[in-house]
Amino acid sequence: MSRHVVITGASSGIGAACARQFHALGDRLSLGARRTERLKDLATGAFTHALDVTDRASVEQFVAAAIAANGPIDVLVNNAGLARGTEKIAEGTGEAWREMIETNVLGLLEVTRRILPHMLENKRGHVIVIGSIAGHKAYVGGGVYCGSKRALQPICEAMRMETLGTGIRVTSVDPGLVETEFSIVRFRGDQDRAAKVYQDTRPLVADDVAECVVFAAGRPAHVNLDSIVVMPTDQATPQMVHRGGR
Ligand SMILES: NC(=O)c1ccc[n+]([C@@H]2O[C@H](COP(=O)([O-])OP(=O)(O)OC[C@H]3O[C@@H](n4cnc5c(N)ncnc54)[C@H](OP(=O)(O)O)[C@@H]3O)[C@@H](O)[C@H]2O)c1
Repeated sequence: MSRHVVITGASSGIGAACARQFHALGDRLSLGARRTERLKDLATGAFTHALDVTDRASVEQFVAAAIAANGPIDVLVNNAGLARGTEKIAEGTGEAWREMIETNVLGLLEVTRRILPHMLENKRGHVIVIGSIAGHKAYVGGGVYCGSKRALQPICEAMRMETLGTGIRVTSVDPGLVETEFSIVRFRGDQDRAAKVYQDTRPLVADDVAECVVFAAGRPAHVNLDSIVVMPTDQATPQMVHRGGR
């Protein structure tokens, strides 16, 4: 049966790959991001709408428009997120911290709190959160990004407790290194620096993560995958990456 799948940050990377894969399964999609022009050709027939998760009015409009277009929401993929810079705590100015926390934590909460009540009312729904292995292990220069992703763990745990008995599922998909625009955004457009992150190693591609999301969403209603941690074979921790051949 066709599901209504809402994906935040669908204009690039993992979100766009999720959109393509759910679309291939025949699901009804509502896709949001700030760069709306990028949403248009992703999936024929998908509902697309501007979304800035850091702007409460934008979130409100997006959720209302998605429900009006496609009906009750079955799956929410909370994917919109970013890292900014690699400043150590002592070097930070606060601007990048706010952007990461407002997007990755508060933005996710603002979207979720507008959709979860509908899921509770309909007695069905699946909230999928794109976390990160950065939420499991910190690294130098990543303190606030890691903190923003670690924060998603208790948020997911609490949601599981708060929705217990309602049939709602909560899954966190936590990837390691994925080659997307993530590093270009992190290094503010510095393509050479971004390319070095993936140099001489084989990172995941967005579709590898999207497959985990689609798999979790496709389990029978009584099965909840709490968390999927997915890394390239050549990665052991956020900072331990094998480079060069075998
Ligand atoms: N790549 C990795 O190595 C990796 C590893 C672990 C976890 N992750 C997580 O995976 C998620 C997706 O990242 P990605 O790798 O696919 O990076 P990406 O290619 O840069 O995509 C990020 C997406 O988030 C959207 N976004 C950012 N800020 C937003 C906002 N304020 N409102 C709405 N949408 C916003 C962007 O859309 P617009 O700019 O058009 O708004 C874009 O579609 C993020 O949560 C990231 O933290 C990535």
